[in-house]
Amino acid sequence: MIVCENVSFAYEKDRPALRAVSFGIGVGEAVGLIGANGAGKSTLMKALLGLVIPEGEVRVDGLRVEKRTLPEVRRKLGFVLQNSDNQMFMPTVYEDMLFGPLNYGLSREEAEARADEALRRLGLEALKRRHNHRLSGGEKRMAAIATILAMAPEAILMDEPTSALDPYNRRLVINIIRDLPQTRLIASHDLDMILDTCQRVILIAEGRIVADGPAKVILRDKALLEANRLELPLSLGGRG
Ligand SMILES: Nc1ncnc2c1ncn2[C@@H]1O[C@H](COP(=O)(O)OP(=O)(O)OP(=O)(O)O)[C@@H](O)[C@H]1O
Ligand SMILES: [Mg+2]
Repeated sequence: MIVCENVSFAYEKDRPALRAVSFGIGVGEAVGLIGANGAGKSTLMKALLGLVIPEGEVRVDGLRVEKRTLPEVRRKLGFVLQNSDNQMFMPTVYEDMLFGPLNYGLSREEAEARADEALRRLGLEALKRRHNHRLSGGEKRMAAIATILAMAPEAILMDEPTSALDPYNRRLVINIIRDLPQTRLIASHDLDMILDTCQRVILIAEGRIVADGPAKVILRDKALLEANRLELPLSLGGRG
């Protein structure tokens, strides 16, 4: 579903953010993307979405990500950015949620049914008519997740989905992410969440993949995690 071949990118000359990153994610697979601050997680997500155009090749569902294919790529890939402020462009939560589905040709009735269902699953009915820019940090994050659920894309990229969420909402979101049928790539420092939602983990450091394997193996590897400024998940004996 998602393929990266030799993907490299630098925002500024001589300061590479991604260095020859190669991996593939199969249909329906859930993959955690972990690594220290500045490792390149968000940049990799942006490269998958065509928000930055890297060297090398990115393909989504067989489609090469480039300027020409962006509308089609964005339709297949739903995303929650690290800063969800930047991704809401309609005034209210509900209008924002309807925008994608209506744009993809659903009737108003179908789009509303999807949006209502997503709001219900996330317990957000009360936010429906609220203005996006007047929401709290966690409310914005929840609204962005609801918007993705309503869009029902083929694959989902989430950058720090649980940051800013209270424990109740964090658990709700973990359960929803775990049960989604879609292909998922989830970047986070919340390694307990990654362990609960992903079968596989990719660890990056300074723009390079340093490990790619089963979540249960990588997230148990104390030495590997600590060498990369990470800690064992609490549920695997981490100190917290
Ligand atoms: N807009 C930008 N302009 C210049 N450099 C950038 C920009 N965004 C990120 N970088 C740099 O690129 C590198 C990778 O950043 P990125 O945001 O991908 O890291 P990250 O793994 O997502 O980190 P975090 O865990 O803090 O979210 C860092 O060195 C960062 O300083
Ligand atoms: Mg980031």
